[in-house]
Amino acid sequence: MDFEDKTVLITGAGSGIGKSAANRFANGGANLVLADINKESLEATCEEIRAKERDVISVKLDVGNLNEIDLMVEKAVSEFSGIDILFNNAGLTRHIDFLDIEEDHWDQIHRVNSKGAFFCMQKTAQSMVNRGQGGRIVNTASIAGRGYRRTSNAAYAASKGAVIAMTYIASSVLAPHNINVNAVCPGIVQTNMLSNILSGRSDDSGSSSDELKNAMIDEIPIGRANDADDVSALAVFLAGPGSRNITGQAFNVDGGMIMS
Ligand SMILES: NC(=O)c1ccc[n+]([C@@H]2O[C@H](COP(=O)([O-])OP(=O)(O)OC[C@H]3O[C@@H](n4cnc5c(N)ncnc54)[C@H](O)[C@@H]3O)[C@@H](O)[C@H]2O)c1
Repeated sequence: MDFEDKTVLITGAGSGIGKSAANRFANGGANLVLADINKESLEATCEEIRAKERDVISVKLDVGNLNEIDLMVEKAVSEFSGIDILFNNAGLTRHIDFLDIEEDHWDQIHRVNSKGAFFCMQKTAQSMVNRGQGGRIVNTASIAGRGYRRTSNAAYAASKGAVIAMTYIASSVLAPHNINVNAVCPGIVQTNMLSNILSGRSDDSGSSSDELKNAMIDEIPIGRANDADDVSALAVFLAGPGSRNITGQAFNVDGGMIMS
């Protein structure tokens, strides 16, 4: 039970990678603060965790809203006395061709994926520094931020490049406080996000979602896409005792697509 008596805050916990991570941390004995903009799916995750008899607080949150981030952190600190681990994972995207990206698309994606990720990290880090007991932060970036050519759109790729860059800076600033900051860079993960991207691409191309998905999988050296569990396994490792001296790193989980 590596996470016994630890409090773990997860954003984007309502589905996909965040939901998988919530189950893994709960299995490891953690108390959980689960946050998502989608109240219904968030409650479904919370019910799964309660069934494991772990303590869980549910926070309906838009990570693009700084007041809501403040309230989430305050709630976590007041209910559990502090946050030990942040899995900073909420994100969104959809298929948009490079030549069709408009200002609104850019703003919507960056509001959540880069601004939201930054302030969730910064405000959680403030509470960790004030508490003085160290901590762990794992950010969800993407191989999109490292040049993956079939990414959903260029604004998304830029937002995930930003997550990798902010991981590097935060790790050096927070290291003296014994706070490790790392990023996971998933490749293709079979979650709602992928289904939505494929459906948009299918509308544009006339190919079916399955055909498009198979074409993406054909490019993966190991021959298979990720399940959410493939990614949450790394996030949990980076939050656990075995990684105490790893910080300022971004790790791909992509079956060998990107060699950096
Ligand atoms: N699925 C992939 O292929 C893939 C690849 C690389 C990176 N990622 C990243 O993994 C992370 C998790 O995505 P996923 O694949 O599990 O997809 P998902 O759509 O299943 O989960 C994303 C979650 O984030 C939540 N969310 C979206 N906007 C939010 C907001 N403003 N505030 C709070 N919550 C919000 C959604 O409601 C959802 O529950 C994201 O950051 C995504 O960019 C996914």
